[in-house]
Amino acid sequence: MATTLTYLPFALPDIGDDEIDEVVDSMRSGWLTTGPKARRFEQDFTECFGGDVEALAVNSATSGLHLALEALGICSEDEVITTPYTFTATAEVVRYFNANPVFADIDPHTLNIDPSAIESAITPRTKAIIPVHFGGLACDMDSILDIAHRYNLRVVEDAAHALPTTSGSRLVGSLQSDATVFSFYVTKPLTTGEGGMVVTRNPEIAARCRVMRLHGIDRDAFERYVSNRPAWYYEVVGPGFKYNMTDIAASIGIHQLRKAYQLQRRRGEIAHEYTRSFAGLPLVLPPQPNPGELHAWHLYVIRLTDDARVDRNRFIEMMADMGISTSVHFIPLTMQPYWRDTYGLRERDYPNVMDCYRRTVSLPIYTRMTDEDVQRVVGAIRSILE
Ligand SMILES: Cc1ncc(COP(=O)(O)O)c(C=O)c1O
Repeated sequence: MATTLTYLPFALPDIGDDEIDEVVDSMRSGWLTTGPKARRFEQDFTECFGGDVEALAVNSATSGLHLALEALGICSEDEVITTPYTFTATAEVVRYFNANPVFADIDPHTLNIDPSAIESAITPRTKAIIPVHFGGLACDMDSILDIAHRYNLRVVEDAAHALPTTSGSRLVGSLQSDATVFSFYVTKPLTTGEGGMVVTRNPEIAARCRVMRLHGIDRDAFERYVSNRPAWYYEVVGPGFKYNMTDIAASIGIHQLRKAYQLQRRRGEIAHEYTRSFAGLPLVLPPQPNPGELHAWHLYVIRLTDDARVDRNRFIEMMADMGISTSVHFIPLTMQPYWRDTYGLRERDYPNVMDCYRRTVSLPIYTRMTDEDVQRVVGAIRSILE
């Protein structure tokens, strides 16, 4: 009799009773949209980063990146340098201003944007850099901030994968960039289903993001009800957006944030077990963080070497046949029809990105995986590659 194959998903959120009870509490309270829970989530976030940053909860990292660039005054025809080895959201927000992303190749070891490629891409129109902490490993922020300083450029960190991640023993989010944006999409290290957070130490950026995330209104609904001003009064000071986070989402986020280090530790254990088990296989394993640094381990990305007896696509099919779901991060933006055709991008100008893309597979790495699940992935990979 045939046995049914249990399927191992690529990612699953880790939602406990605390999150569920907090959501129910919000629903019973009647305050479903932005209110006391969103405020508390922001305050907890600020504390997490040492108290000298402001945190603004939004409904996605995409909206957070958009708001941050808006607050920096990015204009039509400006150029913003970023990596092609990212999700399209990182670059699409630049187009919202009719500005142009300029793609710089990655470092083939870290898979993060290469600072020397950033420097080569700078023109008189360059206004900002968006480094992406790929998979949860910090970019070379010292070099990037140094370039920004020398060329008078702004820096918005795309930290969608990077909570908690450190650079120079400081949490990403508390560095000297203009703003850092986190994602709480369902697959991310911390989730609210959909959501994001803009973190900045610059009060002007914070004030602008705060206003623009809710229609350009000078205060949110919660303040309208608790301040001494008449409840009905508000002022519109800009053509804003509808990017506020609901209290339902924030209820989840409050408890996810409390578990951030615990969740990271479990992902770190899985990463360690993969790295130990894959020694000797025809694979390039993901780079380890420098001693003392935290890697969020949002992704565990392997690359098949030329010695592997199958190519990447066949490898993914064989894993799927064994009931294991994998993914590819990322299909480079330089290959995507919109970006390629709009900017006339050529694969040969991005050799590192292209080489990584051809070989790369992302393995399941999430806290709800059991040790048996991890060994199942290890066993499957050994059976394909040994
Ligand atoms: C690197 C990167 N930046 C930005 C985003 C956008 O995040 P969100 O879905 O929260 O808008 C993602 C989402 O996958 C991402 O991977």
